[in-house]
Amino acid sequence: MLEGKTAFVTGGSRGIGAAIVRKLAAAGAAVTFTYNSSPDAARAVAEAAGNGAQAVRLDLADADAVAAAVRGLPKLDILVNNAGTFELASVAEATLAAFDRMFAVNVRAVVAAVLEAAKIIPDGGRIITVGSINGEAVPFPGGAFYAGSKGAVRMLTKGWARDLGERGVTVNVVQPGPIDTDLNPADGPFGAVLTGMTALKRYGKPEDVAELVAFLAGPAGGNITGAALITDGGMTA
Ligand SMILES: NC(=O)c1ccc[n+]([C@@H]2O[C@H](COP(=O)([O-])OP(=O)(O)OC[C@H]3O[C@@H](n4cnc5c(N)ncnc54)[C@H](OP(=O)(O)O)[C@@H]3O)[C@@H](O)[C@H]2O)c1
Repeated sequence: MLEGKTAFVTGGSRGIGAAIVRKLAAAGAAVTFTYNSSPDAARAVAEAAGNGAQAVRLDLADADAVAAAVRGLPKLDILVNNAGTFELASVAEATLAAFDRMFAVNVRAVVAAVLEAAKIIPDGGRIITVGSINGEAVPFPGGAFYAGSKGAVRMLTKGWARDLGERGVTVNVVQPGPIDTDLNPADGPFGAVLTGMTALKRYGKPEDVAELVAFLAGPAGGNITGAALITDGGMTA
């Protein structure tokens, strides 16, 4: 399905990003993915994914480095902005430093990657960002910065879809509900509560998100752009 395509995935060493790397490589894409603090995990993902998947170290808090990494790619058909961070901070204890940390990785790195990608991606290319259902609603206290960052990428996506549409480049955001990763483990403190909030009484898996990303990346996604697609077990139903 993705034979001959080249993909760049941020945060591919663990969790959802690792599943996206495996899925895109299995579909035939040549995948380069980034890691930051998990080199051993990144190596294992590259080996498991096969098809020549390559890991490169990149701190997404450094927007200049992100721009340089995308600019240096020899070819780019599919950009997947997956990496993200999450910190809880209610308004009483929140700091501007925490805001800057969250927005640097969840928003500024995405902007840096897309501005460079738009220069080199061919007609018909794909830009996909992993947002969150918290880009639409915040069903718990302390999530303002995270939700703000995910709402920002949702609206940036719609704007970029308009900018790049005439070239056939699609730009979409995938918005997961709870997914079983280190960031939000199913057996963690919120796992049972979150499962109970879904319609399916099912905690999501990284592969659920990877399937949706691969669909958007492939030919079947050609008429979808500016969309925010939810995979959340019906949590927002
Ligand atoms: N899990 C959920 O329930 C859930 C729900 C909705 C949305 N999401 C979104 O899904 C995306 C992936 O989340 P996840 O659950 O898979 O998270 P995860 O298991 O914590 O993995 C995060 C990935 O991002 C990378 N990363 C984090 N900070 C980085 C930085 N400063 N520089 C470079 N890489 C960095 C990590 O790389 P290293 O380990 O190598 O540093 C890792 O590969 C995020 O955007 C998150 O907001 C997750």
